[in-house]
Amino acid sequence: MMRILSPAKINLHLRVGPLAVDGFHPLLTWMCTIGLYDTMEMTATDEPGIRLKCDRPDVPIDESNLIIRAARALSPNLGADVSLQKQIPLGGGLGGGSSNAAFALLGFNKLWNLNLLKAQLTKIASQLGSDVPFFLHGPSSICTGRGQHVMPIPRPAAKYAVLFFPEFSISTPAVYKRFDEMKLGLAEATHPRDDWTILTELPTSDLLNILINDLETPAISLHPKLGQLRYRLEQAISRRVIMSGSGSTLFTLSDNKDDAERLVAKISEPSIRTALFELAPAAPALYP
Ligand code: C5P
Repeated sequence: MMRILSPAKINLHLRVGPLAVDGFHPLLTWMCTIGLYDTMEMTATDEPGIRLKCDRPDVPIDESNLIIRAARALSPNLGADVSLQKQIPLGGGLGGGSSNAAFALLGFNKLWNLNLLKAQLTKIASQLGSDVPFFLHGPSSICTGRGQHVMPIPRPAAKYAVLFFPEFSISTPAVYKRFDEMKLGLAEATHPRDDWTILTELPTSDLLNILINDLETPAISLHPKLGQLRYRLEQAISRRVIMSGSGSTLFTLSDNKDDAERLVAKISEPSIRTALFELAPAAPALYP
């Protein structure tokens, strides 16, 4: 049996351009993995096909699941039992499904001795979803195009992310649809920039002041209580709070664990789960 840890991501910075003819939006985003993991356990079987179990009933375990689609894309004839234990919330902007897909590609590649190269896995990953290739590279990368072109950069100076989990989830396509309806998206927002290394060296408080998520406006338009929550959190901790991806998870950054723990202790709203995670941790071994 092979056990694989599949990390979540946050978007430190997310710029979105106007809708392109392929139905996607050009992106310029800085993503980092965080130390929040789903666990996948895989066992090779003689019987072909994937039998997937999950501890959360709201995760589809049929052919639409990205783990099964990843297996299909690698080999339609090989078999495995897969058990998925979810810790990453669904509809939270944390890339859980994409991470599962990427780590399933790495896992099946080993489990079935396929010996595909990273470049070959990356090509399959980009067909599975815009965020999937990032997880093959991590832990701190600039992603462009639909999100599928990945350029690793150094980790930021911040060592911890404090996450705030609202009780509701948000649909990514719905946020992009509202983005279009609101006629948001400037072409120049996603133009390449060459100062990423400088940003990775900025003190956390300076970095927080320049990070942008262009999907916050449409997400808050769909869920006004998300905007109110962000305001209350910023008042409570006196620090910028940013949305990850298309939401609903909010986060701030911290230089060290003591400071991150102090921020968590300042949040008294019972409806908001708050937790700290290592930012851009070392990649987990494939079979710890
Ligand atoms: O690629 P993925 O399946 O993760 O995308 C989910 C949805 O998010 C797409 O169907 C599309 O509506 C939207 N999307 C987008 N532009 C991107 C990435 C995603 O419009 N660059």
